[in-house]
Amino acid sequence: MSRPVILLLSGPNLNLLGEREPEIYGHERLLDHVASARERAQSRGFDLEHMQSNHEGALIDAVHSARKRVVAIVINPGALTHYSWSLHDALVTYDGPIIELHLSNPKEREPWRHISVVEPLAIASIVGKGAAGYPEAIDTAIDAYQEKNG
Ligand code: DQA
Repeated sequence: MSRPVILLLSGPNLNLLGEREPEIYGHERLLDHVASARERAQSRGFDLEHMQSNHEGALIDAVHSARKRVVAIVINPGALTHYSWSLHDALVTYDGPIIELHLSNPKEREPWRHISVVEPLAIASIVGKGAAGYPEAIDTAIDAYQEKNG
Protein backbone atom coordinates (compact mmCIF):
# COMPACT_ATOMS: atom_id res chain seq x y z
CA MET A 1 0.00 0.00 0.00
CA SER A 2 1.30 3.47 -0.79
CA ARG A 3 2.10 5.75 2.10
CA PRO A 4 -0.03 8.78 2.92
CA VAL A 5 1.36 12.00 1.44
CA ILE A 6 1.90 15.39 3.08
CA LEU A 7 2.22 18.39 0.78
CA LEU A 8 4.77 21.06 1.69
CA LEU A 9 4.13 24.29 -0.20
CA SER A 10 6.67 27.10 -0.43
CA GLY A 11 5.70 30.53 -1.71
CA PRO A 12 7.48 33.38 -3.48
CA ASN A 13 11.19 34.05 -2.91
CA LEU A 14 11.72 30.99 -0.74
CA ASN A 15 13.78 29.52 -3.59
CA LEU A 16 16.41 32.11 -2.59
CA LEU A 17 16.75 30.93 1.01
CA GLY A 18 20.39 30.77 2.04
CA GLU A 19 21.20 33.89 -0.02
CA ARG A 20 18.19 35.99 0.92
CA GLU A 21 18.48 38.04 4.13
CA PRO A 22 20.27 35.24 6.04
CA GLU A 23 20.20 37.37 9.19
CA ILE A 24 16.41 36.89 9.16
CA TYR A 25 15.89 33.57 7.39
CA GLY A 26 19.10 31.69 8.20
CA HIS A 27 21.78 30.11 6.05
CA GLU A 28 19.99 26.90 5.13
CA ARG A 29 18.66 26.56 1.61
CA LEU A 30 15.13 25.51 0.79
CA LEU A 31 16.58 22.16 -0.25
CA ASP A 32 17.85 21.64 3.30
CA HIS A 33 14.44 22.39 4.83
CA VAL A 34 12.71 20.05 2.39
CA ALA A 35 15.22 17.30 3.24
CA SER A 36 14.64 17.64 6.99
CA ALA A 37 10.86 17.75 6.52
CA ARG A 38 10.99 14.67 4.28
CA GLU A 39 13.21 12.80 6.73
CA ARG A 40 10.75 13.46 9.55
CA ALA A 41 7.76 12.47 7.42
CA GLN A 42 9.40 9.25 6.24
CA SER A 43 10.54 8.30 9.74
CA ARG A 44 6.84 8.34 10.70
CA GLY A 45 5.63 6.37 7.67
CA PHE A 46 4.54 9.27 5.44
CA ASP A 47 5.76 10.60 2.10
CA LEU A 48 6.48 14.27 1.46
CA GLU A 49 5.72 16.09 -1.74
CA HIS A 50 7.20 19.58 -2.12
CA MET A 51 6.31 22.39 -4.47
CA GLN A 52 7.76 25.92 -4.57
CA SER A 53 6.49 28.67 -6.80
CA ASN A 54 6.87 32.40 -7.18
CA HIS A 55 3.42 32.48 -8.79
CA GLU A 56 0.22 32.73 -6.80
CA GLY A 57 -1.83 30.81 -9.39
CA ALA A 58 0.59 27.88 -9.43
CA LEU A 59 0.27 27.56 -5.65
CA ILE A 60 -3.51 27.70 -5.94
CA ASP A 61 -3.39 24.92 -8.56
CA ALA A 62 -1.23 22.88 -6.19
CA VAL A 63 -3.82 23.29 -3.42
CA HIS A 64 -6.56 22.15 -5.81
CA SER A 65 -4.57 19.09 -6.78
CA ALA A 66 -4.07 18.28 -3.08
CA ARG A 67 -7.80 17.97 -2.48
CA LYS A 68 -8.88 14.40 -1.60
CA ARG A 69 -5.34 13.25 -2.34
CA VAL A 70 -2.90 14.38 0.36
CA VAL A 71 -3.53 13.99 4.08
CA ALA A 72 -2.21 17.39 5.22
CA ILE A 73 -0.75 20.63 3.87
CA VAL A 74 2.18 22.45 5.45
CA ILE A 75 2.49 25.87 3.87
CA ASN A 76 4.97 28.72 4.07
CA PRO A 77 3.25 31.14 1.71
CA GLY A 78 5.99 33.82 1.91
CA ALA A 79 4.54 37.32 1.48
CA LEU A 80 1.31 35.87 0.01
CA THR A 81 0.52 35.14 3.67
CA HIS A 82 -0.35 38.75 4.20
CA TYR A 83 -2.72 39.48 1.33
CA SER A 84 -3.57 36.53 -0.92
CA TRP A 85 -7.28 36.04 -0.46
CA SER A 86 -7.32 33.76 -3.50
CA LEU A 87 -4.82 31.45 -1.80
CA HIS A 88 -7.02 31.67 1.32
CA ASP A 89 -10.09 30.69 -0.72
CA ALA A 90 -8.25 27.76 -2.31
CA LEU A 91 -7.20 26.52 1.13
CA VAL A 92 -10.83 26.73 2.30
CA THR A 93 -11.64 24.02 -0.27
CA TYR A 94 -9.10 21.66 1.29
CA ASP A 95 -10.55 19.57 4.10
CA GLY A 96 -7.45 18.10 5.78
CA PRO A 97 -5.27 19.79 8.40
CA ILE A 98 -3.34 22.90 7.29
CA ILE A 99 -0.23 24.02 9.14
CA GLU A 100 1.11 27.54 8.60
CA LEU A 101 4.89 27.78 8.79
CA HIS A 102 7.28 30.73 8.82
CA LEU A 103 11.01 30.85 9.48
CA SER A 104 10.73 34.29 11.08
CA ASN A 105 7.96 35.57 13.32
CA PRO A 106 6.05 37.95 11.05
CA LYS A 107 4.15 39.41 14.01
CA GLU A 108 7.39 40.79 15.40
CA ARG A 109 8.28 42.48 12.13
CA GLU A 110 6.80 45.29 9.99
CA PRO A 111 3.09 45.99 10.66
CA TRP A 112 2.07 44.84 7.16
CA ARG A 113 3.30 41.34 8.06
CA HIS A 114 1.06 41.11 11.11
CA ILE A 115 -1.98 39.99 9.13
CA SER A 116 -2.13 36.39 7.98
CA VAL A 117 -4.95 35.26 5.70
CA VAL A 118 -3.89 31.64 6.30
CA GLU A 119 -3.88 31.71 10.10
CA PRO A 120 -7.69 31.41 10.51
CA LEU A 121 -7.62 28.20 8.43
CA ALA A 122 -4.61 26.60 10.08
CA ILE A 123 -4.73 24.21 13.02
CA ALA A 124 -1.34 25.64 14.05
CA SER A 125 1.03 28.43 13.07
CA ILE A 126 4.68 27.60 13.63
CA VAL A 127 6.71 30.80 13.53
CA GLY A 128 10.11 32.13 14.45
CA LYS A 129 11.78 28.76 14.89
CA GLY A 130 13.96 28.88 11.77
CA ALA A 131 14.96 25.49 10.35
CA ALA A 132 13.55 23.64 13.39
CA GLY A 133 10.06 24.72 12.34
CA TYR A 134 10.06 22.31 9.37
CA PRO A 135 10.20 18.97 11.22
CA GLU A 136 7.94 20.42 13.92
CA ALA A 137 5.34 21.35 11.30
CA ILE A 138 5.49 17.82 9.88
CA ASP A 139 4.99 16.34 13.36
CA THR A 140 2.03 18.66 13.94
CA ALA A 141 0.48 17.61 10.62
CA ILE A 142 0.94 13.90 11.34
CA ASP A 143 -0.35 14.18 14.92
CA ALA A 144 -3.49 15.94 13.66
CA TYR A 145 -4.02 13.35 10.91
CA GLN A 146 -3.53 10.45 13.30
CA GLU A 147 -5.79 11.95 15.93
CA LYS A 148 -8.60 12.09 13.38
CA ASN A 149 -7.93 8.81 11.56
CA GLY A 150 -6.40 6.59 14.22
C1 DQA B 1 8.22 34.29 5.69
C2 DQA B 1 7.69 35.60 6.31
C3 DQA B 1 7.03 36.47 5.26
O1 DQA B 1 6.60 37.70 5.84
C4 DQA B 1 8.00 36.78 4.15
O2 DQA B 1 7.37 37.55 3.14
C5 DQA B 1 8.66 35.58 3.58
C6 DQA B 1 9.11 34.54 4.51
C7 DQA B 1 8.99 33.44 6.72
O3 DQA B 1 9.21 32.26 6.47
O4 DQA B 1 9.43 33.97 7.75
O5 DQA B 1 8.88 35.46 2.39
O6 DQA B 1 7.09 33.52 5.28
